[in-house]
Amino acid sequence: MKYDAQDCELVAKAQLTATIYDFRLKNPALAAITRPGQFVQVLVPSKTLRRPISVCDVEGDVLRLVFEVRGEGTALLAQTKVGEIINLIAPLGHGFTLEPDKKTIFVGGGIGVPPLLYSAKQCGQNAIVINGFRQRSAVILEDDFRQAVGQLILTTDDGSYGLPGFVTQPLEELLPQADRICACGPMPMLKNIAKLAQQYHVPCEVSLEQRMACGIGACLGCAVAVKEADGRVIYRHVCKDGPVFDSQCVAWDGEKPQPVTSNTPDKKPNEKEGQ
Ligand SMILES: Cc1cc2nc3c(=O)[nH]c(=O)nc-3n(C[C@H](O)[C@H](O)[C@H](O)COP(=O)(O)OP(=O)(O)OC[C@H]3O[C@@H](n4cnc5c(N)ncnc54)[C@H](O)[C@@H]3O)c2cc1C
Ligand code: FES
Repeated sequence: MKYDAQDCELVAKAQLTATIYDFRLKNPALAAITRPGQFVQVLVPSKTLRRPISVCDVEGDVLRLVFEVRGEGTALLAQTKVGEIINLIAPLGHGFTLEPDKKTIFVGGGIGVPPLLYSAKQCGQNAIVINGFRQRSAVILEDDFRQAVGQLILTTDDGSYGLPGFVTQPLEELLPQADRICACGPMPMLKNIAKLAQQYHVPCEVSLEQRMACGIGACLGCAVAVKEADGRVIYRHVCKDGPVFDSQCVAWDGEKPQPVTSNTPDKKPNEKEGQ
């Protein structure tokens, strides 16, 4: 799908927690072509490198981005005022394989929860969503998911809200009735979900995060090791080939490509910060 640099007006802004912001950006043409699970590269004032943020939802002419302030770039972005213009390169990447008539379990962890909303909405009553957070004060988008899907289960690590413990506990109980799993969150969570999916023979896709520079497959900055059907391990780009990958293809145990060819990125993701 064709991406482009696009100006969007910030038409609404909310703060969901101490560090998480919810932006609504108006651009009818962009909203019309953005698919669930895609992301945008946001231009931040005074920064050369754009910051990748997933599309949380599309509501008519408006794209919704929910992001956490982690460093300088997202802190500057959070200062944008309603009415100001934000430039995005979008839409980017490929989302989950969605089969709205199949029972799909969406599993989100922390700031991995927002990228699932638009996809889960497509499955409506057939979507079961399990969202996990550290504690009650970190819970976001509860009403949005509850209104959009068949069942919402919340977990907190410390038991202060919803079920106590990790998302994998309710997931394992529900897996016998699932046709697919879509997951987004921290790597250890995704790795455990991939293991369960393999054990129960349920197709599973995971949305990965990687440090990014260009966001369009040109800089090789977002390489991730994946296993091919023939067992070879090669590098793929999270920005261009992902961010969603089949969980059984991800090299969870740190396997590296052997040998590196001229077509594969031969360096690690860009580690530079503050650009
Ligand atoms: C495809 C994709 C989709 C994303 N979607 C969202 C989203 O919907 N909401 C959201 O809050 N964040 C999302 N992120 C993460 C977001 O891009 C980073 O948090 C942001 O770029 C940090 O920029 P910064 O200038 O504030 O921080 P920096 O100063 O660049 O870094 C601050 C800290 O954040 C960590 N960090 C930076 N970039 C990333 C990254 N790409 N992944 C993981 N950790 C990172 C750094 O290691 C460092 O510890 C996504 C990342 C990718 C690759
Ligand atoms: S960020 Fe440049 S290739 Fe992916």
